[in-house]
Amino acid sequence: MRKNIVAGNWKMNTTLEEGVELANEINGLLKGKKANCDVVICVPFTHLVAVKGVIDEGVMGLGAENCSEHEKGAYTGEVSAAMVKSTGADHVILGHSERRQYFGENNEQLLAKTKLALANGLTPIFCVGEVLEERENGSFNEVVKGQVEALFSLEPADFAKIIIAYEPVWAIGTGKTATAEQAQDMHAHIRSVIAEKYGKELADNTSILYGGSCKPTNAKELFAKPDVDGGLIGGAALKADSFMGIIEAFD
Ligand code: 13P
Repeated sequence: MRKNIVAGNWKMNTTLEEGVELANEINGLLKGKKANCDVVICVPFTHLVAVKGVIDEGVMGLGAENCSEHEKGAYTGEVSAAMVKSTGADHVILGHSERRQYFGENNEQLLAKTKLALANGLTPIFCVGEVLEERENGSFNEVVKGQVEALFSLEPADFAKIIIAYEPVWAIGTGKTATAEQAQDMHAHIRSVIAEKYGKELADNTSILYGGSCKPTNAKELFAKPDVDGGLIGGAALKADSFMGIIEAFD
């Protein structure tokens, strides 16, 4: 059966020193209690090696927030999937709405990134989600379907390795969370889109996380929904106590 997962996305926050301290604190708290879900922290590229050094084996996973769509070569400033893997990281966030919106990432690039991540043994946390206008004009189910379908040229065995994160763009960093019902409806929709292509068993085994203003105060209600398998957490992942509060929603 699918896993419950709480993943943090630190975005462009923390200096190296602050990041190592935060990772160390979370690691210490998680060692002291057995979490009832998998935990992953996704951190800036610059922090990966040092953060890996303070995480105990088996306590939590480590991810990057992006990787290049190119394998290697003359792409100044880019970081490849192989480089991410070589730091000891095991996950990578791909297709975050901030990458789609501010850096113009499209479906074709995201498919290329996903293939490279998988080829290098990284688990993609693949983000989808509609903007406010699409929520309001009723096209949100179609929009998200299209974003998921961008990966449908993958072989079933590859698609099965992916974690999906539904992040309605209007809920990210706004304090405006999707209701648990809105999240459940979309997660069930995503699962049915996957089932149509890859079959019910693979769809039932796919973890689908919710992201967007998820906090200790609303995590329990969101995670109680049958198709919500955890969260991708931004702001609340930057403090060990609020991140732990969300992890404890699975207790
Ligand atoms: P917030 O939790 O800050 O709304 O961010 C969500 C997000 O974008 C996680 O990837």
